[in-house]
Amino acid sequence: MHLYGTSAVSDRGHLTIGGVDTVQLSKEYGTALYVYDVAMIREKARAFRNAFEQENVHYQVAYASKAFSCIAMVQLADEEGLSLDVVSGGELYTALQAGFPAERIHFHGNNKSDAEIRMALDAKIGCFVVDNFYELALLEQLAEEKGVRANILLRITPGIEAHTHDYILTGQEDSKFGFDLQSGQVEEAIQSAEKKSTLKLLGLHCHIGSQIFETTGFVMAIDKIFQYLSTWYESFGFAPEVLNLGGGFGIRYTADDQPIPVGDYIAAMTHAVKRNLSEGMAMPEIWIEPGRSLVGEAGLTLYTVGSHKHVPELRNYLAVDGGMSDNLRPALYQAKYEAAIANRMNETRDHLYSVAGKCCESGDMLIWDCKLQRAISGDVMAVFSTGAYGYSMANNYNRLPKPAVVFVENGEASLVVKRESYEDLIHHDLPLKQAIISK
Ligand code: LLP
Repeated sequence: MHLYGTSAVSDRGHLTIGGVDTVQLSKEYGTALYVYDVAMIREKARAFRNAFEQENVHYQVAYASKAFSCIAMVQLADEEGLSLDVVSGGELYTALQAGFPAERIHFHGNNKSDAEIRMALDAKIGCFVVDNFYELALLEQLAEEKGVRANILLRITPGIEAHTHDYILTGQEDSKFGFDLQSGQVEEAIQSAEKKSTLKLLGLHCHIGSQIFETTGFVMAIDKIFQYLSTWYESFGFAPEVLNLGGGFGIRYTADDQPIPVGDYIAAMTHAVKRNLSEGMAMPEIWIEPGRSLVGEAGLTLYTVGSHKHVPELRNYLAVDGGMSDNLRPALYQAKYEAAIANRMNETRDHLYSVAGKCCESGDMLIWDCKLQRAISGDVMAVFSTGAYGYSMANNYNRLPKPAVVFVENGEASLVVKRESYEDLIHHDLPLKQAIISK
């Protein structure tokens, strides 16, 4: 059984995380429950930063908060010296409420609203990652209105798409994000941005995909961008101060996933940039935006095992008190996970189960066919590697309240997001108007 970070097995055969017994956590905070290993998040953040320090380049590591955003997580990112990538007014609001330094916030999104841009300008965030011509014009207008100058990166689609293990060079990139590199949109955007006194163009951004296990795709994207950059440098002297290469570094969900050390990505990226620099062109700052790789493996979800269903000759279903409402990824992407019975860690994993959620939908299956310890109702199940895009994609389908989130570190647990109550669920509901009832 693979255990992540500070997870271990206690003398009583219980799974522990951060020195805390998960069975105890389930009793104290209830299930379903998200639990994060804070030491592991710190370790991952430091690994990225150390890798850059070794390469001796100027850098920023921006945590892509879409992977998991709440006040405590944003504060942890700040403690670790990370910058922060936000993609909406909601993520920005969370960051500001957490007291995150605005100058280290980068604002993404392919359709930022007027109100979101105003909010970010008022907060004086560090940088807008401008996605399209509409936003370029809107940002210029709003910055002018407010009498401020906004730092920007232009998001480009380099025509390289990373599909986990293989890379496809697409002639015509078909993506809703960014300025298209091959059709001249990026050049047009650079020239237009450089003319605008209310915008300061820092450089370019690209993100080639997620859950990537090789360095090749990043290097291909860099090579591709520099084919254009060297021409632009020669013809109109454009050299980026910043090159943001996005996130997407792969993590382990199951034994099939074999992540490489983060230093390998950073070394490959910085070497590729250095190799491509035109004569006289200064080395840009390299920014990255890891989300999943910072928090994914650090999180697990605890559930209580409830009902069983045995379909003779076919399958043993084990149902837990959560499902696609707290982890949408299996239903949405057929994502695979591993699990264990947290109160029977020393028992043999010789029972084949399929783990079902409790939502009214046949597709609400967390894991198909996994070998677990023999489980009975009331046991605690841990599903591993749920730290990224679990809580952040949680929903209230079937009006299930969202689980609580607990951070553990050095043998101590602290609640960082309270469990939703039934009152929370109806908080925004309003009664049917009398006039409508009487019709
Ligand atoms: N930067 C940009 C511009 C992105 O679009 C993303 C992810 C990231 C950084 C962070 O990528 P990461 O390091 O986390 O792979 N809901 C999906 C993932 C969607 C990712 C969207 N963009 C999932 O659960 O797998």
